[in-house]
Amino acid sequence: MTAQPLAPVRRLAVMTSGGDAPGMNSCIRAVVRYARHHGIETSGVCWGYEGLMDGKIVPLGARDVGGKLQEGGTLLKSARLPSFREPEVQARGVEILRRHGIDALAVIGGDGSLAGAAALSSHGFATIGIPASIDNDIAGTELAIGVDTALNTILEAIDRLRDTASSHGRVLIVETMGRDCGYLALMSGLTGGAEVIHVPEQRLELEEILAAVERGRARGKTHVLVTVAEGAEHKADAISEYIAARHEGYQPRVTILGHVQRGGRPTHFDRLLATRMGVRAVDTLMGGENGVMVGLQGGAMITVPLPEVVSGNRAATVDDYRLARILAQ
Ligand code: ADP
Ligand code: F6P
Ligand code: MG
Repeated sequence: MTAQPLAPVRRLAVMTSGGDAPGMNSCIRAVVRYARHHGIETSGVCWGYEGLMDGKIVPLGARDVGGKLQEGGTLLKSARLPSFREPEVQARGVEILRRHGIDALAVIGGDGSLAGAAALSSHGFATIGIPASIDNDIAGTELAIGVDTALNTILEAIDRLRDTASSHGRVLIVETMGRDCGYLALMSGLTGGAEVIHVPEQRLELEEILAAVERGRARGKTHVLVTVAEGAEHKADAISEYIAARHEGYQPRVTILGHVQRGGRPTHFDRLLATRMGVRAVDTLMGGENGVMVGLQGGAMITVPLPEVVSGNRAATVDDYRLARILAQ
């Protein structure tokens, strides 16, 4: 899908939007330096769509993106602008980009940001999406930038929490981020050894959670781990109260990991993914294609039309959920 004739890209702007994700900086660096290597001028849109509407567009050279590859967060800053869902606001955004001499835009962000990118494309502006969100809730890519780092952070926390829970024979309940998606709770549960995983995608009653905890105790486990996604039906505190009311001795303790999951140095995997995705985004634009998102499928870089990304659902992870249950014996 191409929003503009195949005119060569001369001035490319790059933006980060929505929740920041470790690896965004590695991606900005790759986009800027690879584009410049090919003679394309580069700019940065600061503060996401909000900054775009305020015309916060600055030149971005090779030195501006130096020394950031290994840092979490985003050097371009990020924001949320609910009014960007309105077509008139999007049309004004396109005008602002054109006024600044920009002829293509790379949007690095989550599902919401990519919906904004799809909207810009539908207004006739050459736009390309790069998936970056710890939530891993973006259709069309197996992994988004930032997910690996967030999972490593969660696992480090779980390992620490397990030490103390095990010493006291307690139940530990860990709430992960992920908005409406259970990916972080599921995968950290699978690789952190959870007895119970509670995610929005799988119905689980409080009685079933308690029963699974009781089974763990009956098998002689010194600690029992429950991972809960923030968007799951039963909140971590409610689960804790339910368990405590029935078994005083289980001494459940809740840890809500919160924004600690979003910060920190990107892992090797995220730096590489971000770098490869940034390069592929520039190659795609230079090849005359836009209106797509770069994605990872079966270990290969692919492109997916942005409307498919926006309307699609990520494949269910039922197999991992079943596997975690089997391995929790
Ligand atoms: P993320 O990109 O991390 O998923 P959000 O869902 O908060 O984060 O989206 C970031 C921003 O993207 C929003 O504040 C808004 O400016 C823009 N956006 C979100 N959804 C849409 C949409 N349906 N159409 C246009 N822009 C959108
Ligand atoms: O999309 C990333 C995310 O961290 C979600 O997991 C979470 O629901 C949300 O952003 C939190 O948003 P904020 O940083 O605005 O509190
Ligand atoms: Mg999102």
